[in-house]
Amino acid sequence: PAPGWTAATDVVVVGSGVAGLTVALNVRKAGLRAMVVTKAVLDEGSTRWAQGGVAAALGEGDTPEQHLDDTLVAGAGVCDEEAVRTLVTEGPDAVRRLIATGALFDRGEDGEVLLTREGGHHRRRIVHAGGDATGAEISRALVAAVRTDPGIELIEHALVLDLLTDAAGHAAGLTLHVMGEGQRDGVGAVRARAVVLATGGMGQVFSATTNPAVSTGDGVALALRAGAAVTDLEFVQFHPTVLWLGPEAEGQQPLVSEAVRGEGAHLVDADGVRFMVGQHELAELAPRDIVAKAITRRMQEQGAEHMFLDGRHFGAEMWEHRFPTILAFCRANGIDPVTEPIPIAPAAHFASGGVRTDRHGRTSVPGLYACGEVACTGVHGANRLASNSLLEGLVFAERIAADLAGLDAAGDLPERAVDVAAARAAQPVPLPPSEARAEIQRLMSRGAGILRSAASMADTAAGLALLAEQARSHMAEEKPADPRVETWEAANLLLVATALVTAAAQREETRGCHWREDFPERDDAHWRRHLITTLAATGG
Ligand code: SIN
Repeated sequence: PAPGWTAATDVVVVGSGVAGLTVALNVRKAGLRAMVVTKAVLDEGSTRWAQGGVAAALGEGDTPEQHLDDTLVAGAGVCDEEAVRTLVTEGPDAVRRLIATGALFDRGEDGEVLLTREGGHHRRRIVHAGGDATGAEISRALVAAVRTDPGIELIEHALVLDLLTDAAGHAAGLTLHVMGEGQRDGVGAVRARAVVLATGGMGQVFSATTNPAVSTGDGVALALRAGAAVTDLEFVQFHPTVLWLGPEAEGQQPLVSEAVRGEGAHLVDADGVRFMVGQHELAELAPRDIVAKAITRRMQEQGAEHMFLDGRHFGAEMWEHRFPTILAFCRANGIDPVTEPIPIAPAAHFASGGVRTDRHGRTSVPGLYACGEVACTGVHGANRLASNSLLEGLVFAERIAADLAGLDAAGDLPERAVDVAAARAAQPVPLPPSEARAEIQRLMSRGAGILRSAASMADTAAGLALLAEQARSHMAEEKPADPRVETWEAANLLLVATALVTAAAQREETRGCHWREDFPERDDAHWRRHLITTLAATGG
């Protein structure tokens, strides 16, 4: 469809989690105008669901070097060490600046910020808020700061469609589908001198995920269509402990934070045996991929649908003060962690890969940046270390803003990208019916989830190809004039699922959270490298 409206700004930021809002606030400090566009409302994304916290070497005796070591070990040999060094070195000050912006972290009686532990960390280095509601507090503080800055324009209920580029291939804005926002209703375009993707993850490609419904891979899909390089998509992290709500549970599932294990809860099997003891020096606090695999293996051995997390020894007071959110949703689902172990199973949690960037957040398309879960800065490698994701959003958002600070605020906006209709017409996206979403999730969970093989992924790929074919004929026959958001989301899910399976099928080894039944060993001789995915590689 042709755009019905246009707007202009210096920097347009897509997404309103920790990454997007931190970019916008810092771009303003550089004197530039910013516009934040977001698919639902400002605090709807993954940030507000984060429980555990933000990792940074703030504790006595801790150092960025130790944080670096833990991150590299978790990343299973494919982290970009320089990017990790940036993350852990700039992390402590980024957290201090977040506190200065207004985020209130939990403090002890001495007034010092309290630190907890999570999987893969050899020290207590994770700040938290409201016990287990860290993301909600960060979101509250950043949303408040953004709302009081008149130089940041907000458009909610705006699904991003495609990147606009000029004749030289430089990002020059984007097209959006806005629902019910007065003057800006329907498909429109924002012209800008730089575009920052901060759209979050893609957990909704799987049936059961900790991610909210909005996490449909929109940024990665846009980047692929725009010709940007995407990398490490095969490394999808499954969180080991998600409340098990039955075999049919679908969509966003309640997370039981790793901090519960950090504070001493035990993983036990159906016989009450602590099966992580003896498997890894850190037992329940081994890196997340190792724990998720051990749980899955034990479930297979025992023919069980879940394992248990036992924190009865915490007692009621600790549950109420340290983990109020988890306690409340467990009780709402008929489980009382004070008196019984919590049934848990792994579920899709985090995309370690994404749109490839350098250490300034620049993608392979000039003027297009990516930040947060949508990006692949190289800090996570094959398996993200717990609580490094909010930190990544903070640190690299500040770096992107510093890179953009060179833009001349007084300069005219380029006139070069106004022909939006032509740009959209040149990129017809096959739109599957919105019902395709459930089928994509089923195919992905069955064949490309926590445990993968060439055969299982071939089935998934064939199912996805059929959906793409149906979408193409649907477009040719019916030419949907005004597709709904659900339709765009299904198109994005289909594209990113296809890209993910393509990469996962190619990587013939087991590394980090990429677990191949048919190639059970890590193979450094052949696979200690990244796979770059482009639109052509997905058959798109
Ligand atoms: C958690 O609280 O277990 C999640 C932390 C993370 O994903 O880093």
